[in-house]
Amino acid sequence: MIRPDYPIRTPRLTLRPYRADDFDALYDIQSRPEVTRYLLFGARNRDEVRKSLRERVAATELDDEGGTLILAVVLPETGGVIGDVVLFWRSREHRLGEIGYIFHPDYGGQGYATEAAQVMLRLGFDELGLHRIIGRVDARNTASARVLERLGMRFEAHFIQNEIVKGEWTDEIVFAMLEDEWRAR
Ligand SMILES: CC(C)(COP(=O)(O)OP(=O)(O)OC[C@H]1O[C@@H](n2cnc3c(N)ncnc32)[C@H](O)[C@@H]1OP(=O)(O)O)[C@@H](O)C(=O)NCCC(=O)NCCS
Repeated sequence: MIRPDYPIRTPRLTLRPYRADDFDALYDIQSRPEVTRYLLFGARNRDEVRKSLRERVAATELDDEGGTLILAVVLPETGGVIGDVVLFWRSREHRLGEIGYIFHPDYGGQGYATEAAQVMLRLGFDELGLHRIIGRVDARNTASARVLERLGMRFEAHFIQNEIVKGEWTDEIVFAMLEDEWRAR
């Protein structure tokens, strides 16, 4: 189990748990169709964002498999939330985890998602002792696949039409990293 000390700082970012007063920032991200284009959910309304925020505020530690750790990513200069990163604990027996991330498009193209997601790999491998961490993306989501590549994850699989996203069958690609690869990176 992990219960990190917050905030977590990287060279350019601060990661901390979500708070109830992050509603406007989260709404500004989750209500955008361009953000949710390749996600399993569509652009969210205020009620849906309120529910999502409640889940996020509670997701501050990983107690057991099935758990989710979600951290708000903040630009220290402004204090504003620009996105979030997530670590799912998929299996205790197989020491398997999964990462994910969602960022505001105004802050794209600067490597912030990669920098923040790297923290989740570190927590997964170094703190939780995971053996393998995966990232799964809609095969059309090339920006997200590039993040996983920049993190040093390996392309492992391409599943044909295994999910329905926004009403259409879509392919999914899977990237992974093993603990040895993390240590050797
Ligand atoms: C997926 C998503 C986070 C990718 O955002 P992104 O801005 O491309 O990713 P990063 O923040 O890591 O930025 C990387 C880009 O910044 C550039 N960059 C600039 N400065 C950089 C730096 N210091 N370090 C790393 N990259 C840098 C990179 O070259 C890269 O651009 P490129 O892909 O054109 O080469 C974003 O598109 C998003 O939130 N999408 C909606 C939600 C979503 O689909 N999430 C993933 C679900 S699987």
